[in-house]
Amino acid sequence: MKAPRGTQDLLPGTTEKWQYVEEKLVELSRKYHYKEIRTPIFEHTELFQRGVGDSTDIVQKEMYTFTDRGDRSLTLRPEGTASVVRAFVQNKLFGSPNQPTKLFYFGPMFRYERPQQGRMRQFVQFGVEALGSADPAIDAEVLALAMSCYQELGLKSLKLVINSLGDMESRTNHRNALINHFEPHKEELCSDCQTRLQQNPLRVLDCKKDRNHPAMETAPSILDYLNDESKQYFEQVKQHLDHMGIDYVVDANLVRGLDYYNHTAFEIMSDADGFGAITTLSGGGRYNGLVEELDGPETPGIGFALSVERLLMALEAEGIELPIDDSLDCYFASLGERASQEAVSLMFQLRQAGIQVDKDYQGKKFKAQFKAADRLQAKYVIVLGDEELDQGIVNVKKMETGEQTEVAIDQLVSHIQNELQGGN
Ligand code: HAM
Repeated sequence: MKAPRGTQDLLPGTTEKWQYVEEKLVELSRKYHYKEIRTPIFEHTELFQRGVGDSTDIVQKEMYTFTDRGDRSLTLRPEGTASVVRAFVQNKLFGSPNQPTKLFYFGPMFRYERPQQGRMRQFVQFGVEALGSADPAIDAEVLALAMSCYQELGLKSLKLVINSLGDMESRTNHRNALINHFEPHKEELCSDCQTRLQQNPLRVLDCKKDRNHPAMETAPSILDYLNDESKQYFEQVKQHLDHMGIDYVVDANLVRGLDYYNHTAFEIMSDADGFGAITTLSGGGRYNGLVEELDGPETPGIGFALSVERLLMALEAEGIELPIDDSLDCYFASLGERASQEAVSLMFQLRQAGIQVDKDYQGKKFKAQFKAADRLQAKYVIVLGDEELDQGIVNVKKMETGEQTEVAIDQLVSHIQNELQGGN
């Protein structure tokens, strides 16, 4: 049996990297004062149809949708924003005096995409959503947080690309201009784009098949259709970024794959050599209107999400080794039945005192136990044989120096505690 295509097992050796990254991201969220939310892994299909948008590739082609035994249509979440907004409305978080509501989440997402490096059918997103503020400063905060997720881990080859999709009025004007522009070329576009042209012409700009069509280059730019309010909003976001010293490039063709965006939209790319074909590390933007779309009160929102898989790929591409300590505090090398039994209870005491310890469970010879201790990078080997047992002592060997100390059994816990505090 094999795991389904586009999924992966994370084994020891790799899970430590995930834990390290996850801890860093949680720590960072705390600094920006975002609190964790956990929502279900499946939701009513309608949530994504309405939230992500009926015309998106995600909803049309990529959802894992099934009917449960109660004849309900459910979908494994393809992204986190719709669920977070649903939870915000359902749990009336908008009623809390602390606004905006700043949330972060971690968890597996599911999309039926063609798997390749960096594109999985199950992948883990970390994301944040700030609901309840239309201050450009919060856009800048989310962008800064997104960049910091990579910078704090030491990544350098990053490119922040931003755009403004404007408010409803700007978008409608741009939409009409796009339809007029592409309509004469409709027959030359792919079948998806022919449908997109009616449903959501902005998505035509993002088409991989038609990207080299000459009409793409001359397509009307959203930036020329922003009304004064939208222009000013975008300017303020950029000013905040400038003040914080965060570099960015504006790309009028940056179109996100989800329907809910307006005003600020952004992606972070890796430009590290050897990063593979998919260079987008994360993406996000503002989604004023989504809360109302999901039956909540008028509430502006902005957020972003990254996948941990692509973050780890970027670390690898830049040759960054995470400082993961894979060592073990103590390893028991015991000889004989009695000593082995005593080791079990001593280990229990050591573990209760917060010390990490393991022993051989395969009846290995003494020498092989030492080899195992070496392999496991044990800092101390505690030697216990019948002879030591009779004298009420153990021999503690510090692996780094080879130095051996005789310790009374009833002093073992405090001895190891002192050693670990002192020398390590
Ligand atoms: P998205 O651009 O669809 O946006 O996904 C965000 C990130 O998830 C991508 O930049 C990428 O790192 C990762 N990702 C997406 N699909 C895959 C995949 N198949 N395999 C591996 N990684 C993947 C959203 O999901 C929005 N909810 C982001 C957002 C939050 N906007 C506002 N708030």
